[in-house]
Amino acid sequence: YRRLRVALLGAGAVGSQVAALLLRHGAELADRAGAELELVGIAVRDLDAPRETDLPRELFTTDAETLIMGADIVIELMGGIEPARTYLLQAINSGADVVTANKALLATHGTEIFEAADQVGAQVYYEAAAAGAIPIIRPLRDSLAGDRVQRIMGIVNGTTNYILDRMDTEGADLADVLAEAQALGYAEADPTADVEGFDAAQKAAILASLAFHTTVPLSTVHREGITGIDASMIESARRAGYVIKLLAVCERLQGESDAAASGEAISVRVYPALISRAHPLASVHGAHNAVFVQAEAAGSLMFYGAGAGGVQTASAVLGDIVSAARRHIAGGVGVGESTRANLPIVPVGRVTTRY
Ligand code: NDP
Ligand code: HSE
Repeated sequence: YRRLRVALLGAGAVGSQVAALLLRHGAELADRAGAELELVGIAVRDLDAPRETDLPRELFTTDAETLIMGADIVIELMGGIEPARTYLLQAINSGADVVTANKALLATHGTEIFEAADQVGAQVYYEAAAAGAIPIIRPLRDSLAGDRVQRIMGIVNGTTNYILDRMDTEGADLADVLAEAQALGYAEADPTADVEGFDAAQKAAILASLAFHTTVPLSTVHREGITGIDASMIESARRAGYVIKLLAVCERLQGESDAAASGEAISVRVYPALISRAHPLASVHGAHNAVFVQAEAAGSLMFYGAGAGGVQTASAVLGDIVSAARRHIAGGVGVGESTRANLPIVPVGRVTTRY
């Protein structure tokens, strides 16, 4: 097999699992990718920090820039905006294909990154940037590219679902359960992103952009988090036959509002909603996610599984690495994003709060 040089940026909850799986299943992955995937280095901040998996010490470096130079595939699992943005752009401009799980970066600087990749014929893979292990990016971008998606509704943040579930089933305290979610590797480095709904809003912007073939700026996403939810609200919901879930809703509107009156518009929103205990979303427990997609021809589709967690998310990242390797071997023939329209975005808040 031809050998491809793979550089990994970050060895935290997700990165340490990706590195371990790449090393453990190297031969099998080479068969699938048609190329040997040589992990040439792992960039971190602290060489002495404890790692969740046992990785060769000689792979670690604090010099990300040198590591990126000469890599065929660069995997960004550091999180945050900078220096992740600069490193991804460096990787793209040096001819690498890139894989990232960084929804914060894609929801804010996605246009810049995709355009940079287009210019040099590189590809950006980001299956892990929404809903963890659940395949949802490719289905929206590829499988449903011939259909018209009308609506996406679901739970796209594992940490808040874990918290709300434990508050509902055990009467647990929000702060205590958040600390557990952090220890389990579900939460963002700054968990405010989870509990205030920023992470779900970033994912909603990414999913809506793909589903509606447009660019949804994060600033247009209505966002509410779960920090205002207390035990009495959970109890009141229970007595009425509901459970509280943090929902993301992305909708195509047709003539239903002023902005949409003359054509189509979209609305993207994240907020805690009351879900009937008979609704399938009420059965989404722990850090699992579920996403319902309603499309004109396909009808209703449901995507369900682990929405957070290091090893689970590593599955999506490894799938992207194999795709990137196959594309590299094929001489850079890519999947490509579809041409983007500019649909108006309607700032709708909580339209429906009960499901
Ligand atoms: P962690 O915070 O656990 O790990 C981040 C890693 O990046 C650490 O190894 C850290 O180094 C390294 N790092 C951070 N900044 C720098 C820097 N400036 N230079 C070099 N290395 C740096 O994050 P996660 O693994 O949880 O998340 C990674 C990405 O995946 C994020 O974008 C996150 O949103 C996304 N994601 C996470 C999921 C999850 O369940 N955790 C699920 C889906 C997506 P050091 O260890 O030395 O501090
Ligand atoms: N912090 C995120 C979550 C990780 O809890 O859903 C997965 O994107």
